[in-house]
Amino acid sequence: MKTLLLSDSEHDVKQAGEILKNGGLVGIPTETVYGLAANALDGEAVARIFSAKGRPMDNPLIVHIADIGDIEKFDLVADFPQKAKMLAEIFWSGPLTMIMPKGRAIPDEVSAGLDTVAIRFPEHKTAQEIIKAAGVPLAAPSANISGSPSPTTAEHVMNDLNGKINAVVDGGECRVGLESTVITMVSDTPRILRPGGITPEQIESVIGKIDIDDAVLNRLEKNEKAASPGMKYKHYSPKARVILVRGEGYINYVNSKSDKNVAALCYNDDVKKLSVRAFPLGNMTDTDSQAHTLFDRLRQIDCENYDIVYARCPKADGVGMAIYNRLIRAAGFEVIDLEKL
Ligand code: TXA
Ligand code: MG
Repeated sequence: MKTLLLSDSEHDVKQAGEILKNGGLVGIPTETVYGLAANALDGEAVARIFSAKGRPMDNPLIVHIADIGDIEKFDLVADFPQKAKMLAEIFWSGPLTMIMPKGRAIPDEVSAGLDTVAIRFPEHKTAQEIIKAAGVPLAAPSANISGSPSPTTAEHVMNDLNGKINAVVDGGECRVGLESTVITMVSDTPRILRPGGITPEQIESVIGKIDIDDAVLNRLEKNEKAASPGMKYKHYSPKARVILVRGEGYINYVNSKSDKNVAALCYNDDVKKLSVRAFPLGNMTDTDSQAHTLFDRLRQIDCENYDIVYARCPKADGVGMAIYNRLIRAAGFEVIDLEKL
């Protein structure tokens, strides 16, 4: 199949809408990462997403809307809890996904057999225009081959999926760079299943106490069931082995490995002190720019062949929680604690 590279012009957005209406797959820009979209109400179209990505069928998809009214109009949820409405009021449109009891319109392919559905209202103007042009809500996981880092440019999408999907709309670099915060509104106390650009602190300031699922920061035991099926898969990983390094001695530790084929994933100030190839994420305190660059750096690392990448272990608070959550998975939970050596 030839994959069209479309622009965000009115003409091209209309064409993307037509492809989606006809059951096709389109890579779309959002403020978090690029999504691989299909008509969320068409089970056959949604099934094509799983084949193109090589995604396990038991991992459910997020349904994207372009207006809060779409939830009722298309019968997407069986219940829109009060606290979810309060969060929607403040954080939609934006990088927050809420899990609610699923409505009649949701095919099994979207919810992967669960009785819930994840809903997100992206803030990206072109994403909203494409949803409107399609005239239906769009199911969309991140537009990467399953297991690799999520795409934050149209070029990343092309690198992974060229020839497997109908089109990609180029809407520029994604602003946030990490996937949305996922929170389930089905449990008594809402619980974060995946941290993202909207932090737990921001959410608690609107609806009070929430929980953080164990799988956000810790490895699930083999027999534990993941609240969010995506959490159990290896993720975001470049080909090189990634190891997180915690502690003051990071620079010396990495430099002691400089006779080997290794690289460093670090902060801007570290670069001049390191004697190995360094991939800076941003300034040490600037978590927004670290989030913004992380996936692009992981993809760059893939293009040059390293055996091991030593990554600075981030602090797991604020947006840092999302960065930590992605990196610890890229590392398969391998951490070296220099203070404990
Ligand atoms: O920012 C984002 O959320 C991007 C853009 C494209 O919107 N999408 C994205 O989708 O990251 P995906 O499929 O890569 O990640 C969705 C996560 C997965 O971990 C999945 O298991 C979880 O959300 N999820 C989806 N529906 C769920 C449900 N009903 N219950 C629990 N977890 C769910
Ligand atoms: Mg993904």
